[in-house]
Amino acid sequence: MTQHLADALTSDSGLPTTTGTRPGWWREAVIYQVYPRSFADSNGDGMGDLEGIRSRLPYLKELGVDAVWLSPFYASPQADAGYDVADYRAIDPMFGTLHDADAVIREAHELGLRIIVDLVPNHCSDQHEWFKQALREGPGTPLRERFHFRPGQGDDGELPPNDWESIFGGPAWTRVADGEWYLHLFAPEQPDFNWEHPAVQDEFRSILRFWLDLGADGFRIDVAHGLVKAPGLPDLGRDEQLKLLGNQVLPFFDQDGVHEIYRSWRLVLDEYAGDRIGVAEAWTPSADRTALYLRPDELHQAFNFHYLSTGWDAEALRATIDESLDSMRPVGAPTTWVLSNHDVVRHRTRFGSLERARAAALLMLALPGSAYVYQGEELGLPEVVDLPDEVRQDPSFFKANGQDGLRDGCRVPIPWSGDQAPYGFGEGGSWLPQPAEWAGLSVEVQTGDPASTLELYRAALRIRRERGDLGAGDAVEWLEAPEGVLAFRRGDFVCTVNTTREPVRMPAPGTVLLASGEVTDPGVLGADTAVWWQG
Ligand code: NOJ
Repeated sequence: MTQHLADALTSDSGLPTTTGTRPGWWREAVIYQVYPRSFADSNGDGMGDLEGIRSRLPYLKELGVDAVWLSPFYASPQADAGYDVADYRAIDPMFGTLHDADAVIREAHELGLRIIVDLVPNHCSDQHEWFKQALREGPGTPLRERFHFRPGQGDDGELPPNDWESIFGGPAWTRVADGEWYLHLFAPEQPDFNWEHPAVQDEFRSILRFWLDLGADGFRIDVAHGLVKAPGLPDLGRDEQLKLLGNQVLPFFDQDGVHEIYRSWRLVLDEYAGDRIGVAEAWTPSADRTALYLRPDELHQAFNFHYLSTGWDAEALRATIDESLDSMRPVGAPTTWVLSNHDVVRHRTRFGSLERARAAALLMLALPGSAYVYQGEELGLPEVVDLPDEVRQDPSFFKANGQDGLRDGCRVPIPWSGDQAPYGFGEGGSWLPQPAEWAGLSVEVQTGDPASTLELYRAALRIRRERGDLGAGDAVEWLEAPEGVLAFRRGDFVCTVNTTREPVRMPAPGTVLLASGEVTDPGVLGADTAVWWQG
C-alpha cells in the first residue's frame, strides 16, 4: 500500500478499513469507469488525458464513489481505442506520461479513492515489440511461439487454419507475407498471445507487479475468458459464431484452463498489502460459470453482464438478481451490478427514457455487492445515435449479448460546463462531436439542482455510504408487490421499483428516503419510478 493510501485509510475518510470488521473494500465498492479519451482534456488536443483525469478527481470524490477504473492509457496505435497495447509499461503520449499516471494514483489515494487499471492480456498490438520481431524473424522462430502462428489450409495455404470468426467480424486469422497466418479474436491489429508459452505468463506477472508497485489497487482484466484456447485450435463447425458468444463454452472462450492463470495472478496480488483486486471481464454462458473465476484463490469480482443484458422488466430483473446472488454465494464473492460501459448503448437509450435510467440507478445502488457507474450516466447522458460515419472510430460492430451496433455513441466526451461544445471537456474541441442538447446536461447545470440526475446519484451514494449496509450481504428479501413492481427489504431499508408505464397504488412501506421521480402520494408508486424507504 502506498503511504498516501495508508494515510487515507487511517484517517476518518469514511472508507472501510481493510483490517476492520468489514474486510474487503471492494465487496461493496461503487466503482466509476473513466474512459480516458472522453473524460477531460487538459491540453486542448480534443482528446482526454491523464492530467485531465487528475484535475477532476475531486469531482469523483464529491460524487461519492469508492474507486475509479481507468480504461487503457498505454502506448498504443489506437486501432481499438487503446485495447491494442504496444507497450504495457508506457503511457501513450496522447494521454501523458508515466509521471502523470503516478500523479493520478497518488492524488486519488490522497482523496481516499482507489485506482483500478485496465489490463489487456488476451492480445497486444501488432506494433508490440514481440509481434514485430516475430514477423521479422519468420516461420519456426521462437518469437512466433508467443502468438498463434499457423500454416494455412488448402493447396497453397490460402485458407485460414480454422473456421474461427473475429468478434469484430470476418475470419479470426490474417495471413502475413511469408504465408503463415496469425490468430486475432478481435481486430487484425490485435494478435492473440499464446498463453501456453511461459514467457507470456512471466511477462504478465511482471506487468502486474509494475502497476502494483506504482500503487494500482487492482486490474480490470480485458477478455478474461479468452486467454486459453482449446488444444489444437479445433474448428467450431458453424458460422454466425457471434450468436454463440456468452451462450456456450467455445474453443476460444471460457476454457477451463484459464483458471490456472488467475490462480497464479492471485498469488501476485496477495503479495501486496492493501487488498489489491482483479476484476474479470468474462463473458460466460451462465452466472455459475462466471462464479468459477471468483473462487477464493482466483479473482475478486466479475462484471455481471447477465444483469447488463436484462431489459426493463420487473420479472426478468428479479430473476437475474436472484440468479446473480445465488451463483456468487457458493464462492463467497460479491455480486456486481452494471448498467453501462464503453462497449454498449447507454442504458438511458436502451431502456427508452431518462425516468427509467434514474429508476434503474436507484435499483442498482440498493442491491448487495459492488456497482459500476460508467462516466456520464450520473448526468443521464443518452447514447449519441447520429454520429456521422466519418467521425466514428470503433473498428467494428460488436453484436454480442446486450451489444448492438457501433460503440462510438457511448464514448462521446462528457459535458462539464458552459453552453458551447466542448462544454468544458477541454479547450480544443472533442474527438467525437457532442450534441447541442448536452449544454443542458453538464455537471455545472446539474450541480445544486435537486431534480437533476447528478444530484440523484450524489444523494444515493451519500445514503449508501452513510448507512453502510446497502452494499453488504448477499441476499435481498423480496416483498409482495403488484405485477411489474419490484419490492425488497434490506433490514429497515426498502426499495420499490415500478417498471411499468402506469402509476401503481401500493401501501407505503415507510418514509421516503430518496426517489427517482416525484412522490406526490406515498401510496402511489409513479410510472418508471424507484423509491428508497426507511421502513
Ligand atoms: C473488451 C473491451 O471492453 C472492448 O472495448 C475491446 O474492444 C475488447 N475487449 C477487445 O480488447
